[in-house]
Amino acid sequence: MKRLEGKVALVTGAGRGAGAALALKLAAEGAAVVVNDLDAAPAEETVAAIAAGGGRALAFAGDVTRPGFAEDFIATGVNGFGGADILVNNAGYIWNAGVGATTDEQWDAMQDVHLKAAFRIARAWNPWLVERARAEAADQQEGARRQARKMVNISSVSGTHGAWKQIGYSAAKAGLIGLTKSLAREWGPLGVTVNAVAFGLIETRLTQVITGETSIEVGGRRHRVGLTREIRDNLYAQTPLRRGGTPEDAAGAVLLFCLPESDYITGQIIEADGGVGM
Ligand SMILES: NC(=O)c1ccc[n+]([C@@H]2O[C@H](COP(=O)([O-])OP(=O)(O)OC[C@H]3O[C@@H](n4cnc5c(N)ncnc54)[C@H](O)[C@@H]3O)[C@@H](O)[C@H]2O)c1
Repeated sequence: MKRLEGKVALVTGAGRGAGAALALKLAAEGAAVVVNDLDAAPAEETVAAIAAGGGRALAFAGDVTRPGFAEDFIATGVNGFGGADILVNNAGYIWNAGVGATTDEQWDAMQDVHLKAAFRIARAWNPWLVERARAEAADQQEGARRQARKMVNISSVSGTHGAWKQIGYSAAKAGLIGLTKSLAREWGPLGVTVNAVAFGLIETRLTQVITGETSIEVGGRRHRVGLTREIRDNLYAQTPLRRGGTPEDAAGAVLLFCLPESDYITGQIIEADGGVGM
């Protein structure tokens, strides 16, 4: 028996990088997965890869910052697969600057994608969680075991330790820690665990070695990303494990908080960073 058989997982930003690797791992454990991404094509690619492995998934393309997104996302899990047991807030990107150069627009964009979107998803999920907890409490009188449900929020070592010239991103990722701990308290009585994983250097398009002008497009706007080879090599040298994490390493840490093995762990932040922040 796979460990997530019968569960429905919803993952934002699962068209690429750590989110895509996580969607594949959740599906391999038997979960049906709703794969969100801003960009439809990579979301469809993740769904196709899951289907090729014999799993169940559907794509839900859209911007997590759109008002109404959260309600539609939860409804896609509930209507498409009959539930919403595991929710991972992973979508995001970097728009870096120091304090002097950060515009209001830039600050708001970072809070919106990393923090406000997670809050709205939690608010939209809440009625379903309350309703399920009530129904299962009634069943429990007849001896049924209450279902554990899980939220995992993707933070960053920029949130847990701060980062040079990432003020908006860092503040939003730190805000996710408060959101995680508050929801863990509020939803504990419903049997929902809420934890966060703070990634260190994970090798995705955000941290690629810069060759010429390296940028990504998010919602029609281009953002510079990437690290010079020198900075990347310095980061490796400062990391006890002497390497960056793969998307699979990052996804593995998140999977821990999605499995029944973590049913008694809530309100925790783990750093998946090769030991750099210990
Ligand atoms: N790569 C790292 O070193 C690192 C370190 C710390 C934290 N993180 C965090 O990990 C998460 C995943 O990042 P990644 O490194 O896999 O990057 P990635 O760019 O490979 O994947 C992120 C995905 O999120 C999607 N996305 C971005 N904005 C979105 C929006 N508004 N709505 C829906 N989808 C959106 C992108 O299209 C992309 O497919 C992010 O929250 C990021 O901040 C990454």
